[in-house]
Amino acid sequence: MTQQQLDPARIPQHVAIVMDGNGRWAKKRGLPRLRGHNAGMMALKEIVKRSSVLGISHLTVYAFSTENWKRPEEEVFGIFKLLVLYVQKEIRELNDNNVRVNIWGDWSLLPSDAQHAVRKAMETTKNNNGLHFNIALNYGGRAEILRAVHALCKEIQEGRLSPEAIDETSLSARMYSENTPDPDLIIRTGGEYRLSNFLIWQAAYSELVVTEVLWPDFSPDEFEKALHVYQSRNRRFGGLT
Ligand code: IPE
Ligand code: IPE
Ligand code: MG
Repeated sequence: MTQQQLDPARIPQHVAIVMDGNGRWAKKRGLPRLRGHNAGMMALKEIVKRSSVLGISHLTVYAFSTENWKRPEEEVFGIFKLLVLYVQKEIRELNDNNVRVNIWGDWSLLPSDAQHAVRKAMETTKNNNGLHFNIALNYGGRAEILRAVHALCKEIQEGRLSPEAIDETSLSARMYSENTPDPDLIIRTGGEYRLSNFLIWQAAYSELVVTEVLWPDFSPDEFEKALHVYQSRNRRFGGLT
């Protein structure tokens, strides 16, 4: 069956994805969890490409949460190793495709080779003006809000800001997502109906699409299916249609 065309006038500006299900994908095949994370990196590569083709302006993916440190050391450091490999392998093509890479989260706590890789990815692509590709890495929504609050407090302490001036715009401007519209659509693969601390400030009016498909199996076709679901939704933002 050929898929129905997406409405080009209603392509979401910002899509965010909770890339979940790598471990279950590996388990189903009797493989170690890291093989699932590796397969997940390949899936990501294709979704980034399709996002550019579809004219999505911002793609934000949840790669590692502030809570994922609870996992066994071998898995945590294996994920960071895969990240270094991903950046080494993909940076050239990302740059050729005019993609701008940004990291959301406290990447200063990553191993030094991973820090080096992400710094290089951001530096290499900083002048690109195509897809904004944000990787949430050691990211937590609550930590992000706290960080913004600390920044505001510091400015008040230094006399550069008055407490009365704090509003939603000034708080938003101190988030990793400054200059980025709120996600129109948040996709979660792997079938769980929760945000797991992802973009909790920005998700106020995002459309949520959950798919049972495990992240390594999430193909560009599955991505377009989720975009179709998004296009069938009626967004009201608290108003009336
Ligand atoms: C998501 O896949 C990737 C990360 C959290 C790094 P999981 O590793 O959570 O996969 P499941 O949920 O165990 O299947
Ligand atoms: C969310 O997945 C984090 C990432 C995809 C990076 P988790 O697997 O960590 O979420 P929970 O534990 O099921 O809520
Ligand atoms: Mg999971």
